[in-house]
Amino acid sequence: MQKKTEDILKKHGYKRTSIIQVMTDIQAEYNYLPRENLEYVGRRLKVPLSKIYSVATFYAAFSLKPRGKHLITVCSGTACFVRGVDNVLQRIEDRLGIKSGDTTPDNMFTLETVNCLGACALAPIIVVDGEYHGQTTVQKVDTILDKYQQETPAETVH
Ligand code: FES
Repeated sequence: MQKKTEDILKKHGYKRTSIIQVMTDIQAEYNYLPRENLEYVGRRLKVPLSKIYSVATFYAAFSLKPRGKHLITVCSGTACFVRGVDNVLQRIEDRLGIKSGDTTPDNMFTLETVNCLGACALAPIIVVDGEYHGQTTVQKVDTILDKYQQETPAETVH
């Protein structure tokens, strides 16, 4: 039995209509949706796994791949591109040794790009754990990453 997943199901009354809340809680626990947990939910709620996966892929907030402790989102929309976000992205990729869409081996960072964060006036913009950093430069990236990289590596969560 998966104790944590079972607790989450119990909290939501084992209701199929609460599946999104169940998945949200699982993601909050693991930072992504592990396949074995989704299989467990499917068995317990008698919902086909294919249906659970279609929910997981429909909502951008859900991730089926492991995510790091910190999520870095880089805007690659037009305004940010024009103002040099590609240099910023390159710097982040070089420092972390990963490409957009990947997670560092120590599980500290996940890097992703999006089309427009809706704050074009602040271009180029990156978001770290929900915190917006506008008019980002390569130097600013160094300052931001220096701060986060002083932390001890995240434990691997499974
Ligand atoms: S293009 Fe980057 S915030 Fe709009």
